[in-house]
Amino acid sequence: MIDRVTKRCFASIAVSLGVVIPSLAAEHAALKEAFKDNFRVGTAISTPQILGDEPAALALVAQQFNTITPENLLKWQEVHPQPDEFNFDAADRFVEFGEKNGMFIVGHNLVWHSQTPAWVFKGDSAKPLDRETLLKRMQSHIQSVAGRFKGRINGWDVVNEAIEDDGALRKSKWQQIIGDDFIEKAFQFAHEADPKAELYYNDYNEWKPGKIKAIKKLVQKLKSKNIRIEGVGLQGHWGLDYPSTQEIESMFAEYGDLGVKLMVTELDLTVLPDPGLRGGADVARRAEMRKGLDPYRDGLPEDVQRRLAERYAAIFRIFVKHANKLDRVTFWGVHDGQSWHNNWPVRGRTDYPLLFDRQLHPKMAFDSVIQTQTPVRK
Ligand code: XIL
Repeated sequence: MIDRVTKRCFASIAVSLGVVIPSLAAEHAALKEAFKDNFRVGTAISTPQILGDEPAALALVAQQFNTITPENLLKWQEVHPQPDEFNFDAADRFVEFGEKNGMFIVGHNLVWHSQTPAWVFKGDSAKPLDRETLLKRMQSHIQSVAGRFKGRINGWDVVNEAIEDDGALRKSKWQQIIGDDFIEKAFQFAHEADPKAELYYNDYNEWKPGKIKAIKKLVQKLKSKNIRIEGVGLQGHWGLDYPSTQEIESMFAEYGDLGVKLMVTELDLTVLPDPGLRGGADVARRAEMRKGLDPYRDGLPEDVQRRLAERYAAIFRIFVKHANKLDRVTFWGVHDGQSWHNNWPVRGRTDYPLLFDRQLHPKMAFDSVIQTQTPVRK
């Protein structure tokens, strides 16, 4: 048995040499090829994957995708856990992997209310933190992280999830301590740190009417102030029956004439029962396990597999139709075993939201997605 450290070591040498490890999917069509005339196709990579725990998954990424996003490793708490401590090991490997494979590299994310250490929002023992100090902390974090990868990370989710479903600004610590302009400040700092990087606003439930209005207003405001914003990221944590295809269509119509790129940034379709949260992707909302919430522990029945495939096809047909506005479609994970849905919103379930199964085999949904695009033959 090779131990974990040795395995990581071999894998990282292989990755840094650009060696392709044969994978199960090698004989299958590639998503990046199938949609090359439409949009980029990407995946989120986990920290253990980039550190070498799953070489076959990384090989699959190289074979299938032309853009990557880090699932967690660039989030504040991972990369900057203490005021004077940065942890760039995984991030450096992630960027090297993307470069070796000629991929479009996305940074996720710079300013978010979640996965941000408590010290960021703490003042001196006696006083609460003031606006100026928090702005300085934000600027210096963005300068250190986006600045380190200047010219190498191609686009950044600058602000993540700042708007509530009804369109109100989320009362996050960022908003409470700095004020509503924390969003514009974040975009300005990101632009200063890397003037060539594309800058995005990213959120979930982006089909809800209140949110549509607020996101449009935000983009228009930034543009009217000449603050650079290149794109809006639509996370795409959806289910088998929500949002409806009409609601997905309407997003392209609504955001389509904003003059920014649209991208689906975190696509996954949960097949599990909703514990009562009615969708969304608010990481703070959780539910307890109870009977009936984890029905497919021993495998996904054929009929649900088929429903998932049909739903993916319906969604991709819309993506292809709006490809002129859509820059990229990124899945939130390489395979079902990696998906955050196994632990959110209920811990310890078995979900099947992606195109590759736990053994890295393409699922029926993979074939149905590929078939939405017939390659152009000359
Ligand atoms: C999730 C990760 O997938 C999990 O591993 C982590 O524990 C929590 O965050 N919206 C986002 C992503 O923007 O960063 C979140 O990722 C999922 C919801």
